[in-house]
Amino acid sequence: VRIFSSVSAANNHVHSGTKHRVLVPTMGALHKGHISLVRLARENAGGNGEVAVSIFVNPLQFEPGSDFDKYPRTESADEELCREEGVDVLFRPKENEIYAVNRSVFVEETALSNRLCGKSRPGHFRGVCTVVAKLFHILAPHAAVFGEKDFQQLAIIRRMARDLNFPIEIIGAPTVREADGLALSSRNQYLDTEERAQAPILRAALLKASEQGRSGELSSAKIVEQVRTTISNASRARIDYVELVSADDFQPRKKVERNSLLAVAVFFGKTRLIDNILL
Ligand code: PAF
Repeated sequence: VRIFSSVSAANNHVHSGTKHRVLVPTMGALHKGHISLVRLARENAGGNGEVAVSIFVNPLQFEPGSDFDKYPRTESADEELCREEGVDVLFRPKENEIYAVNRSVFVEETALSNRLCGKSRPGHFRGVCTVVAKLFHILAPHAAVFGEKDFQQLAIIRRMARDLNFPIEIIGAPTVREADGLALSSRNQYLDTEERAQAPILRAALLKASEQGRSGELSSAKIVEQVRTTISNASRARIDYVELVSADDFQPRKKVERNSLLAVAVFFGKTRLIDNILL
């Protein structure tokens, strides 16, 4: 793995060759979910192509008062993992090279970003789009891989790539789960024992909803009610939202139709977990 921590070095590298490059943008604290993204990137890049991983805990996408300072930073373990997985390029920029103190240009998606997580986390997707656009410019990938656990993020990045004409294929990767159904996330390590024991209720509630849909329940209200009731059985859970929306534009749906997305965000203690299922 070649490690670059300066923008100009990374930039020189990518413009010195013509390899098919596939980028996996991350904030580090790499886990099995990230490994699956890296493997999908390798499949797409092929043996002669190049897999690049970026690690940058992006201050711009953390709302004030959230977990930026305590976000897990596991630099050497991440580096080791990249080596084991045969990653070609690891880009770990310094914050002052990504953000000038008097920065005044941002990238903002203005339709999808106002819904679901965007409502609870003002400015979050502006931070995501801004940093991903920068990574796209610096590393000039041909394709980039994002997890479907962050379904809204994936859709917003696709929209940004389309609307800003980034010549980059955006690839979605299926969510990786623990044996008990909990979606992998770097934030799972914040959970205490009791919260961790209760957290799989999210997946259980979504699967129950999917079952309801299959047995002919078309009312969004009924499905949402089931999910809220199921999750509320967990004493440590505090629901942020449960919404049944169109998977295309995230507009609320009264009835389950083709391509409906059921998305949840729930706090366990201070830790906010998200999950989703297509109905
Ligand atoms: O999904 C993430 O880890 C981040 O939002 C991303 C895409 C790396 C941008 O900082």
